Amino acid sequence: MSWIREGELTIIERFCANVIKAGPMPKHVAFIMDGNRRYAQKCHVERQQGHSQGFDKLAQTLRWCLNLGIREVTVYAFSIENFKRSKEEVDGLMDLARQKFSRILEEQCFLNVCFAYTSRHEISNAVREMAWGVEQGLLEPSDVSESLLDKCLYTNNSPDPDLLIRTSGEVRLSDFLLWQTSHSCLVFQSVLWPEYSFWNLCEAILRFQMNYSALQKARDSYMEERRRQQMERDQAYVTKKLQQEGFASHGDSRRRRTLLQKCTAMREERIQGFLQALEHKRVDFFERLCTVSA
Ligand code: FPP
Ligand code: MG
Repeated sequence: MSWIREGELTIIERFCANVIKAGPMPKHVAFIMDGNRRYAQKCHVERQQGHSQGFDKLAQTLRWCLNLGIREVTVYAFSIENFKRSKEEVDGLMDLARQKFSRILEEQCFLNVCFAYTSRHEISNAVREMAWGVEQGLLEPSDVSESLLDKCLYTNNSPDPDLLIRTSGEVRLSDFLLWQTSHSCLVFQSVLWPEYSFWNLCEAILRFQMNYSALQKARDSYMEERRRQQMERDQAYVTKKLQQEGFASHGDSRRRRTLLQKCTAMREERIQGFLQALEHKRVDFFERLCTVSA
């Protein structure tokens, strides 16, 4: 039957992929790959076999994403909660990750793997990092904002996911990317992860396309509100500075404008300095971790 396949997709799949690609496409898709153990039970195979097929399904899904022009994927591979599972299962999952991970990395797509992750832990860590920045004198308290928190998350190098898919019929986020998905299309599908198909992925993308303009509108108005809040904070900062220098806060609009520009530039400079220091701190932490575990 290989004649009906062109690479990863059959001709009919390729045709549908092209139809879907005519609409707005998600650039970044996140997956909660759920249902491996239920799949194993259903097929009367070992639990480890369910997880192993889950890994293989991820490799296949990444190729479909690539065929559809989706270059960035984030997966919830292992939550902090998953450590509560039996030692045998956790060890088995770690073994699978060691064996199959390099194969997954061969797929030519940006893959973010959230391992030993929970979103609340990520957000509270970002808040602690900003508090550290203020304590070190790298940041002013007024620099703390939603946009700075974005930059302190582990996902700071990626755009927010456009589409989040959870399989196995569970309708919850289980502490995954809570901050990053506030304007994403959430799609819950009943299929168990190892049985995920190209058609399931198409269905999720169609649902994203149906909601696209509403999502876009919500995202735009949120960004607008964020800009307005930043402007308000900058204005308040300037008012305080003018008062400290003994000027009337509302007088001399040219002085106020100049000070506003200067303050904005200084804020940007402080934030860049803080982010560089944060990067060094994180690199140091990982180097120390590698030395300890070597
Ligand atoms: C959820 O099914 C799946 C997991 C906890 C493991 C997910 C990991 C993979 C599929 C492999 C990808 C990993 C890497 C490192 C790239 P479940 O065990 O919760 O099954 P259930 O919901 O039926 O109980
Ligand atoms: Mg589960």
